Amino acid sequence: MVDRVGLQLDNYRHNLPAQLTPLIGREQEVTAVDTLLRHPEVRLLTLMGPGGVGKTRLGLEVAAELLDDYPDGVCFVPLATISDPELVVPTIAQVLGIKEAGEQPVANLLQASLQDKCLLLLLDNFEQVTAAAPRLADLLADCPQLKILVTSRAVLHIRGEHEFLVPPLALPDLTRLPESESLLQYAAVALFLHCARAARPHPYHRRDLRAPGWATSRHRTGSGTHQTAAPAGAPGTFGTSLAGVDKRST
Ligand SMILES: Nc1ncnc2c1ncn2[C@@H]1O[C@H](COP(=O)(O)OP(=O)(O)OP(=O)(O)O)[C@@H](O)[C@H]1O
Ligand SMILES: [Mg+2]
Repeated sequence: MVDRVGLQLDNYRHNLPAQLTPLIGREQEVTAVDTLLRHPEVRLLTLMGPGGVGKTRLGLEVAAELLDDYPDGVCFVPLATISDPELVVPTIAQVLGIKEAGEQPVANLLQASLQDKCLLLLLDNFEQVTAAAPRLADLLADCPQLKILVTSRAVLHIRGEHEFLVPPLALPDLTRLPESESLLQYAAVALFLHCARAARPHPYHRRDLRAPGWATSRHRTGSGTHQTAAPAGAPGTFGTSLAGVDKRST
């Protein structure tokens, strides 16, 4: 017997966390991932990229856009806190509200629950549990209408996996900065400004963007593992950058 509690698969729509900030840029990536996932042959798609580049944010946006394609819902499963691959299937089952019953292995219960469901699973931060990737392949084989969108810093390396490399947000050429008016057209700059304004709501002028402190901050950010704006996954660097802004505005 499959006992369902919590999210109740039968009435299930989605459990995507609400975003507190607007999505900046990413129009092309949303369209590209959207198109890929709508393709019948694409059942497992991995959004791949370094930490903080925006994989989760992109995955959530695409999943929200595709809600209507999945009558049985979209399920977000955060895995960042899990390092034991054996816990992946139980965690998915738990988020879907599938309770263990008797001696039945939880993998069987999950498979039985999803067998006839047209559902999208968004598995977030899979990099620590890639050894569980074959379990995803089993699930996809048993559940013909299921699709899985994964965010991961490493590819899963299983048959049927499609990969989408998430690029950093657009940055201007740091050696030849454009006029400050056009800097905001770059998504990384727009995201940085958005976060800076949220953290310190005092007005400061756009011309500050070309001041030396700002440039230094961006260079520091760019020398990390990726080139997104500092707040995207680099709170320490962001703090340093804000300090530069503070100094100039006093
Ligand atoms: N395009 C964007 N617009 C607005 N905010 C963004 C955008 N991209 C990323 N962010 C924000 O930047 C932060 C880091 O992004 P995200 O969590 O998606 O990175 P990630 O690649 O999933 O990192 P990790 O590998 O650590 O899980 C988050 O707070 C996210 O909301
Ligand atoms: Mg993430």
